[in-house]
Amino acid sequence: MENALIEYKKLSNGFEYIEIENSSAVAKIALQGAHIFHYEQNSKEPLLWLSDTSDFEMAKSIRGGVPICWPWFGLNKDKSLPQHGFARTALWKLTNTNEADANTTEITFKLQYTKESLKLWPYKFELELHVRISDRLVMELKTTNIDDKPFEITQALHTYFRVSDILHVAIEGLDKKPYLDALTYKREIQNADITFNQEVDRVYQEVSDEVILKDTNRTLHVENEGSSSIVVWNPWIDKCKRMSAMNDDAYKNMVCIESANAFEDARVIKPNKSHTLKATLY
Ligand code: BG6
Repeated sequence: MENALIEYKKLSNGFEYIEIENSSAVAKIALQGAHIFHYEQNSKEPLLWLSDTSDFEMAKSIRGGVPICWPWFGLNKDKSLPQHGFARTALWKLTNTNEADANTTEITFKLQYTKESLKLWPYKFELELHVRISDRLVMELKTTNIDDKPFEITQALHTYFRVSDILHVAIEGLDKKPYLDALTYKREIQNADITFNQEVDRVYQEVSDEVILKDTNRTLHVENEGSSSIVVWNPWIDKCKRMSAMNDDAYKNMVCIESANAFEDARVIKPNKSHTLKATLY
């Protein structure tokens, strides 16, 4: 059995990441944000989109891959707080690595409350990301309440998928699902598969089955557990120009399908209890 490689790397600016290679896939995960920014199965194209102009800088979220939005998704009621929470720019600890077999590597990252986090969000928590790298990318984000009062979270594994051409992709599995249109703040019902010819920013609810991304040359699957909401986002032309760390035409080759607990799917976690959001991508 060939051993998997797990290598620790550091850029000249101090940005740290882990590179994993086993018989079935290659992945790269930054310690900042426990941010998976590359995943590629053997002899296949990368599954995740990563901006050509992405920042690998401390305190800035990488544009692409799988940012972790936590403990809130989107904007906080307090607009001075960072969009999508603080976990994606916090420095996590690598707590476990396991070469389960030649095809499967498991890695766990942990983030715990600090004096600084308590100023942004006044609860004691433990957050773990368990990643399994094989012919599937499996992510389990476990939130544990170690405070003496309940708290509510919204969150997302904000996956950026790489696509050949946004004009030629379709997302299946959300037909007839209710959604909140984040562009109009209206509630709508999806009618047919999702295709793209303009900006799309929607939070789908009541999602129980897998979602399928049909591209011209491949079909990708997103299976979620502990979640009944999915965000679908493509910034299209104008917003793409305004986005940080994104080329003007980057919208053509990416689409976000985010495994979430958002809006009506927010979760209350009682003291000493946990909630796990799981996404399997292949
Ligand atoms: C998506 C939101 O989840 O994230 C979009 O639905 C937002 O509205 C996008 O623009 C990117 O957010 P950010 O904070 O990474 O620029």
